[in-house]
Amino acid sequence: MKCWTKMKITLPLLGHISGVEDTLASQVASFANQLSTASTRTIVVDKSGKGNYKTVQAAVNSVKNGNSQRVIIQINAGTYNEKIKIPSSKPYITFYGPAGAAKTILVYGDTAAKAGGTSLSASITVASDGFIARGISFRNSAPAPVGGAVGRQAVALLIQGDMAAFYDCSFYGAQDTLYDKTGRHYFKDCYIQGSIDFIFGDGQSLYENCHLNSIANPWSGSLTAQKRSSKGEDTGFSFLDCVVTGSGPIYLGRAWGPYSRVVFIRTYFEDLIIPAGWYDWGVTSRTKTVYYGQYKCSGPGANTKGRVNWSLELTDAQARPFKTISFIDGASWLSSL
Ligand SMILES: *[C@@H]1O[C@H](CO)[C@@H](O)[C@H](O)[C@H]1NC(C)=O
Repeated sequence: MKCWTKMKITLPLLGHISGVEDTLASQVASFANQLSTASTRTIVVDKSGKGNYKTVQAAVNSVKNGNSQRVIIQINAGTYNEKIKIPSSKPYITFYGPAGAAKTILVYGDTAAKAGGTSLSASITVASDGFIARGISFRNSAPAPVGGAVGRQAVALLIQGDMAAFYDCSFYGAQDTLYDKTGRHYFKDCYIQGSIDFIFGDGQSLYENCHLNSIANPWSGSLTAQKRSSKGEDTGFSFLDCVVTGSGPIYLGRAWGPYSRVVFIRTYFEDLIIPAGWYDWGVTSRTKTVYYGQYKCSGPGANTKGRVNWSLELTDAQARPFKTISFIDGASWLSSL
């Protein structure tokens, strides 16, 4: 697994859920089908000029508005230094890096201050539905801010389309790396690196078998800042069979929204987690409405002894809704992407 190549520690064997695996197998089959189906268009991006386009944005621009069939944008090995946007009018686009995420790098270096806002800082913005990425590295190269710096949010990827899936991808940034803004999303075998709120937004997302790496030292940070704003929203982040490494101290999450919802299931934590675990964003009332929990986690950072008393050690029944792709209604879309 490419995403795990940076690991320095011996990892526990990662378990799987048969329901997820079954669906994943059919999803992978469906992806293979896309690659071979004649009706699926493939556009090749190659830096050295051996493809249809030399930049990713040029390839995206070539897709018609109102596109209704999957278009595979094959991105050959290279570092593509460009700001990329897929508008909402262009659904069903796949970014496919046959050389893998270590060699297929999309990078830009804007910050919120420079670009005019956190969203605008994103190196890659995906506003369309049905997006798939495989073997791609999404990066923001802006230097990591020191504690208290203003306007230094620097997003690598902003995903606001519905029904998106990321496989064997990596995300590199510091503050606000992955803006999981809105929609249902699946991240599998991905590597995500950052310092403050590095997975944030109001997405409804399942992160399975991913590696989160903190570079938060010496200032404190947070793995997540989930923004669910009302009880009726189905959004939240579920981390399933993940591994958390790197430097701390870091929170598991901060309550960006009053009903913020984040769970970690069977996740391994190195010793970098602030014992309290969770932060109410300075709004005490949020301690009554957030939903934060751990289930069968392991490693030195998983100890729940010092956790705030408004977080949960989930029971089997409480964990169940977050343990399969049904959390993101995956059966209705993930296998047919
Ligand atoms: C939870 O912890 C807070 C702060 O330590 C304390 O004031 C509060 O009484 C505790 N609540 C319960 C239900 O134990």
